[in-house]
Amino acid sequence: MIMEAKEIRKKFFEYFESKGHKIIPSAPIVNKDDPTLMFTNAGMNQFKDYFLGNKTPKHRRIADTQKCLRVSGKHNDLEEVGIDSYHHTMFEMLGNWSFGDYFKKEAIDWAWELLTKQYGLEDDRLYATVFGGDQGENLEPDQEAARLWKQILPEDRVLYFDKKDNFWEMGDTGPCGPCSEIHIDLRSTEERRKIAGQLLVNKDHPLVVEIWNLVFIQFNRKSDGSLVELPAKHVDTGMGFERLCMAVQGKQSNYDTDLFTPFFSWIEKTTGKKYTGKYDRESKKDVAFRVLADHSRAVSFTIADGQLPSNTGAGYVVRRILRRAVRYYFSFLEFKEPLMYQMVPFLASYFEDTFPELKDQAEFVSKIILEEEKSFLRTLESGLRRLSQIEVAHGKLDGKVAFELYDTYGFPIDLTRLIGTEQGWQVDEKGFEEALKEQQDRSRADAHREAGDWSPVHVGSESLFVGYDRQSVKGVKVIKHRTVSEKSKKIHQLVLDKTPFYAESGGQVGDTGFLTFGDEKIRVLDTQKENELIIHFVDRMPKKPSVEAKAEIDAYRRQLIENNHTATHLMHAALREVLGNHVEQRGSLVTEKYLRFDFSHFEKMTEGQIARVEEIVNRRIRENILRREERAVPIEKAKEAGAMMLFGEKYGDRVRVITFDPSYSVELCGGCHVEATGEIGLFKIKSESAIAAGIRRIEAMTAEAAMTYINNMINELNLIKESIALSSPSPTPVPTPAIKKFNKILEEKQELDKELMRYKTDKIRSLKETLIEKFTQVGDIQFLKSKLMDMDMDGAKTLAYDLLKARDHAVVCLSLTNGNKVNLLLAIDRDLAKGKLNAGNLIREMSGHIKGGGGGQPFFATSGGKDPGGIDAAFGHLEQFLRQFVTQNH
Ligand code: SER
Repeated sequence: MIMEAKEIRKKFFEYFESKGHKIIPSAPIVNKDDPTLMFTNAGMNQFKDYFLGNKTPKHRRIADTQKCLRVSGKHNDLEEVGIDSYHHTMFEMLGNWSFGDYFKKEAIDWAWELLTKQYGLEDDRLYATVFGGDQGENLEPDQEAARLWKQILPEDRVLYFDKKDNFWEMGDTGPCGPCSEIHIDLRSTEERRKIAGQLLVNKDHPLVVEIWNLVFIQFNRKSDGSLVELPAKHVDTGMGFERLCMAVQGKQSNYDTDLFTPFFSWIEKTTGKKYTGKYDRESKKDVAFRVLADHSRAVSFTIADGQLPSNTGAGYVVRRILRRAVRYYFSFLEFKEPLMYQMVPFLASYFEDTFPELKDQAEFVSKIILEEEKSFLRTLESGLRRLSQIEVAHGKLDGKVAFELYDTYGFPIDLTRLIGTEQGWQVDEKGFEEALKEQQDRSRADAHREAGDWSPVHVGSESLFVGYDRQSVKGVKVIKHRTVSEKSKKIHQLVLDKTPFYAESGGQVGDTGFLTFGDEKIRVLDTQKENELIIHFVDRMPKKPSVEAKAEIDAYRRQLIENNHTATHLMHAALREVLGNHVEQRGSLVTEKYLRFDFSHFEKMTEGQIARVEEIVNRRIRENILRREERAVPIEKAKEAGAMMLFGEKYGDRVRVITFDPSYSVELCGGCHVEATGEIGLFKIKSESAIAAGIRRIEAMTAEAAMTYINNMINELNLIKESIALSSPSPTPVPTPAIKKFNKILEEKQELDKELMRYKTDKIRSLKETLIEKFTQVGDIQFLKSKLMDMDMDGAKTLAYDLLKARDHAVVCLSLTNGNKVNLLLAIDRDLAKGKLNAGNLIREMSGHIKGGGGGQPFFATSGGKDPGGIDAAFGHLEQFLRQFVTQNH
């Protein structure tokens, strides 16, 4: 019976639980608190502060499975993934930790016992490596680890390696130490007889691989490159779960374990292609299967943990992984539609028990991926078009063009090569490599940030935040300080033993204010967090940093920030009430000027919904609800109370809960809030817009800022009203953009009116010239009838009068049609009208024909009706009457 992956994971937890370890959930894969690291790249990241002594752990023994990603920074495997059998983007790292508790002996004995007794791995397939020392660093070989291993393994299976393999470091700086790795030889007995496993350890053989790394954390690497001994010794172990499964299940590839095979079946079903499990360079289809199965995990979990694909930083890494997968399935599975997004529900239920965060937001994650896939598939198509337009001279494609395709259109160089083979040309590989290297150098240079080393002042490590209760504290000590250079600018930073300054986090900006050392007053420009450290950015270093200081925040600014933070909570609850429970916070910024809130929702909010949210929040403000603040609620209890938690946030066992009416707003939050909602005064939404597929953004204001905003809008409206009444542009001294635009429209309208008038006059003149020729003689009456269109009544009237004046004894009858509406105008020479010809009477008779009515004076009358089909009959009626009239009057 093969032990399933689930069972393997479970055994690990049970084993370490039996050794007194606390099992904890994985930290988010996206790293938010450490400026030196975008993604979690090792299980120990979240414990960095325990190792460095900045924080005291509650449990001294911990174990977990950690979602890790190694596609940026020091550990970068992206281009290997899918090609070989054992690299991944996201992988699970099983780990056990000792914080100043047990050390090498237990770490080694337990690792051995678990692998051989619990998982049943064969002893003679295992090798241990130990650190062989380094002269440059002045480090001795790790004889202690070697001795411990030799009690377990024959001497020839304990191997020494140098710093590159056996000294583990998280990044350029930070906790580190010698390590001891366990490698396994999974080759067939025959192969093993031919070449001894010892010779293949650390040689990139796909079947002789490292499975577990036991790191003995003893040092801190400083930014100047030096190593400093840590006050306590720790254990940090990391075991690649996928590789462990391969070993335990007796497979030849991570991808042959049940961590991936169910996904291959899914891809086979969906694409109609077959996975054959080959690893040669020609088997692109198999690579595509592996790439898609692997990358879908990384992309889904990073998004679920709060990192959206974007054009910079961590977001760009997610985008690149996603695009790599699309390129592979597009080219080698010949699948031209979005595919990865369809895998999300399956992934979510597969990982439900281990990483439930994906299940909870599967719909959201899937929508984000779909949008990304759609847009990249469009780019790919335009890239293909671009390639078809390029002329390839002398059978070689310019390396720069190949790079442009790679960089701008996201074409893998493989794909360009493939197209080349089909079309009979080759890529100028050297030129491509050069262009690629140039870009890599550029991005490395961009990524470089000089962290700088701390200089200690007073002994102590905690930076205690007291700013929930106090705005000013005396007797504050500087623990350490440093000056960081960034682009020729010097930034001075201080860490205090206690501080009222809130460090930017959870969207709330950092406090500003003053530090007073004796009679020297120093400005705090910003406060930021680095892991658990609260760092004050000051305008200069104090002359005497060792004297005790008074720390005082800018209290008015803080009040404004609190208004906006509490308003954010009130609005979050209101949004859920108005739009539904799918609304979840996706990003937040709380400053002294305004608040910005991003949340999941799939369509534009209506005016009505926005008004409703404003109304609810303002009502809550007027209710003057008192804040309830609980500082150390067990997380389970907070969940039971229905507290809103954010995905991708790391919460401890005990959390701070902020409540404004238990039936309305309960949130886990570390930020600063008003004591009672009435302080906020007023809440006003300024804008609502889309920022990504399925994510909306609201910007809003409170208190004075909201009042000013509303007043400005009213002023503007009044000015506009005034201008409309005067019909001339409003003469404001400093016109706002809206007023400027409105004035411009008004001016343009006046111009257009004039132009229209000229146009109408011209039209009437030219019509008159045409019609004047159309008079007919009825006895001695000059008679004109004509059907007009595209004219207004005023124009027709003018025309009728003009025509009447142009002839003696004239009778002019015009019809004017506009859709179904028809008007008749009848003008009669004043002399004739004095007799029996009465336009008013006549028009009434004619109106019957056009289904209407009318009247007027003897010399001019009009009527309106709704049957343009009756015009001819009406004209006929008039003509008949005129004929009779002339006969009778002779
Ligand atoms: N930090 C070590 C690693 O990542 C062991 O957990 O390999």
